[in-house]
Amino acid sequence: MKIIEEKNPSPALAHDITRLVSQLSDSASALTESGLAEIINSPHTVLFTAQENNIVYGMLILLVYRIAVGRHAYIENIVVDQLARGKGIGSQLVSAAIKRARKEGARHIDLTSAPHREAANHLYLKLGFEKRTTNVYRYQVKQ
Ligand SMILES: CC(C)(COP(=O)(O)OP(=O)(O)OC[C@H]1O[C@@H](n2cnc3c(N)ncnc32)[C@H](O)[C@@H]1OP(=O)(O)O)[C@@H](O)C(=O)NCCC(=O)NCCS
Repeated sequence: MKIIEEKNPSPALAHDITRLVSQLSDSASALTESGLAEIINSPHTVLFTAQENNIVYGMLILLVYRIAVGRHAYIENIVVDQLARGKGIGSQLVSAAIKRARKEGARHIDLTSAPHREAANHLYLKLGFEKRTTNVYRYQVKQ
C-alpha cells in the first residue's frame, strides 16, 4: 500500500474521494473536480491517499497553518474503504500526516472524533494522540 500526497486533481480522483467521504458522512455532497483542485492547490492542505494498483483505499486531509502561537496542524476527513479496514491503512495515513506536520514545523496536531467512532478513537490513542478536555462548538452559517 502506497501513501501518496496528491498533486493533480482529476475527475477519477474526485470520484474516489466522494466514494470514501460518503462512508464518513451521509450528508456529504459529491466533490467536484474544482473542489478537489481547491484542496490540492491550497498551501494549507495536503490530501493523502492510500493506493494499491491504482485503487484508492483511503484518504486523509492534513491542514497546516500559522497562528499567533506557532504553526498548527489539524487532521480531517480520514476514512478507509469499509472493505479494506483493519489492515493498518488508517495507521499508515495518520503516520504520514504526523511526518509531514513535523516537517512543516507544527507544534501540535489536533483532531476531533465522535465517541461512537470506536475504531478511530482507538487508532488515535494507539498512535500517541492524547484526549484533551475542551468544549467543541459549531456555528451553522446560513448562506
Ligand atoms: C478509523 C478508520 C479510518 C481506521 O482505518 P483502518 O485502516 O481500519 O485502521 P487500522 O487498520 O490502521 O487500525 C484500526 C484499529 O482500530 C481497531 N478497531 C477496529 N474496529 C474497532 C472497534 N469497533 N472498536 C475498537 N477498535 C477497533 C483495530 O483493531 C485496529 O487497532 P489495532 O491495530 O490495535 O488492532 C476506519 O475505521 C474508518 O474509515 N472508519 C469510518 C470513518 C471514520 O470513523 N473516520 C474517523 C473520523 S474522526
